[in-house]
Amino acid sequence: MIAIVACDADWGIGCGGHLQHRISSDLRRFRALTRGKVVIYGRQTLDTFPGKKPLPDRINLVLRTRKETGEPGCEYISSLDGLLQRLRALKQEGYHDSDFIVIGGGMVYRQLLPYCDRVLVTRFDDSYDADCWFPDLDSLPEWNLVSCGQWLEENGVRFRYMTYERQGIA
Ligand SMILES: NC(=O)c1ccc[n+]([C@@H]2O[C@H](COP(=O)([O-])OP(=O)(O)OC[C@H]3O[C@@H](n4cnc5c(N)ncnc54)[C@H](OP(=O)(O)O)[C@@H]3O)[C@@H](O)[C@H]2O)c1
Repeated sequence: MIAIVACDADWGIGCGGHLQHRISSDLRRFRALTRGKVVIYGRQTLDTFPGKKPLPDRINLVLRTRKETGEPGCEYISSLDGLLQRLRALKQEGYHDSDFIVIGGGMVYRQLLPYCDRVLVTRFDDSYDADCWFPDLDSLPEWNLVSCGQWLEENGVRFRYMTYERQGIA
């Protein structure tokens, strides 16, 4: 399983139910990396999408405890065990671990990081207001920084792409 996240310098990922920044080149990269794959996310992240609609051209697995009518195109799953069971079924249909992509938010990243072996980070150079965070991978001994791109800039926001891998893979 892979996680994709955009973080600020303090690993902040969102504030008031929104992303800290929307960087169009990063959003294009996100689309390219996730298209045709299985995206896994929490109900609060679904609420941040335009029209609260699922992402097109992907299998959308949404963790949510409440049982109520949802959006067409979302598969709602009410527990971590239920999610793992669904992923096992998808593997039997031909999907691979690397097709399962965790895309947020904070609560879901925290629960699924132990199942991830790679994290693709878009890292901002600055800190911004935040009320939810990604685990600090630099302080976790099982995670290694394996690639770090050059600084880029869009609309005054400096950022770079970084890849972390769990120690012992590959
Ligand atoms: N920077 C980034 O890359 C990035 C990416 C995604 C999101 N975000 C930001 O993250 C924030 C949202 O994150 P969040 O932590 O507040 O919420 P979240 O992780 O998106 O969603 C949490 C919700 O998911 C459901 N859930 C979580 N674990 C579950 C489980 N084991 N079983 C069943 N349901 C489960 C619950 O929904 P119910 O309450 O409905 O039961 C819970 O309230 C927003 O600010 C968003 O913009 C940032």
